[in-house]
Amino acid sequence: MTNSSPKLAVRFAAICACSIAAALIASCGGKNSAPTADGAVSAAAAGAHDDWKPKYSKEGELLLPEGFERWVYLGSPLTPQGLNNEQAPFPEFHNVYIQPEAYDAFLSAGAFPEGTILFKELQLTLERQFPDGSRVESSGRGYFPGERHGVDVSVKDSARCAETNNWCYYNFGHHAPPYEESAAAMPAEACAACHQANAATDMVFTQFYARLKR
Ligand code: HEC
Repeated sequence: MTNSSPKLAVRFAAICACSIAAALIASCGGKNSAPTADGAVSAAAAGAHDDWKPKYSKEGELLLPEGFERWVYLGSPLTPQGLNNEQAPFPEFHNVYIQPEAYDAFLSAGAFPEGTILFKELQLTLERQFPDGSRVESSGRGYFPGERHGVDVSVKDSARCAETNNWCYYNFGHHAPPYEESAAAMPAEACAACHQANAATDMVFTQFYARLKR
């Protein structure tokens, strides 16, 4: 048959598109998300991200958490130099993230579960045009995010850090990436003491994170 019917051609094209879509879905899913023989999706694909739990080196140092770019973003407090007599210890945006599982748990139970990681990445402000550190962009005068510039992390871990209210604190460097690959827990006076004295909920500054309001 040389003269193939238009109907058949349409049907063929539809089948083709479907198999391409199916192949794409399978290959986009990554190694953990291959459907099982009966078509169910594996636990890893359904959201049990083992890789987002805290991981430690043989020496007991926390490994730099990976994947925070895909976590829940909580907010960006800012203490710029121009408003702090040029002495701000952290003049960058403080971009704070939490694992999705810990976020869901907090919203439903009002408490941070064991293994919660709060990941704070510092981000420099763009060069100033005015003494207060601000500049003008198309949206107005203010502070605008520039380069990434450091990482601080807190982990809820009652086994390792019972003495500091079950939270451990880590610094992975205050500079441009790459950040340190691992970090030892900081002494209480360096981090935990200020959080204990000033943070609203279980050592975390929930007063600044509207997305944690229940
Ligand atoms: C003098 C007080 C103070 C000290 C010391 C301090 N922090 Fe914080 N930290 C804050 C405040 C206030 C916030 C929230 C507002 C902000 O980021 O400016 C915060 C936020 C954080 C967050 C985001 C999650 C949260 O708890 O709200 C992390 C992570 C963090 N700090 C880690 C550290 C680490 C690591 C150290 C020690 C190297 C440290 N902090 C020392 C005051 C402090």
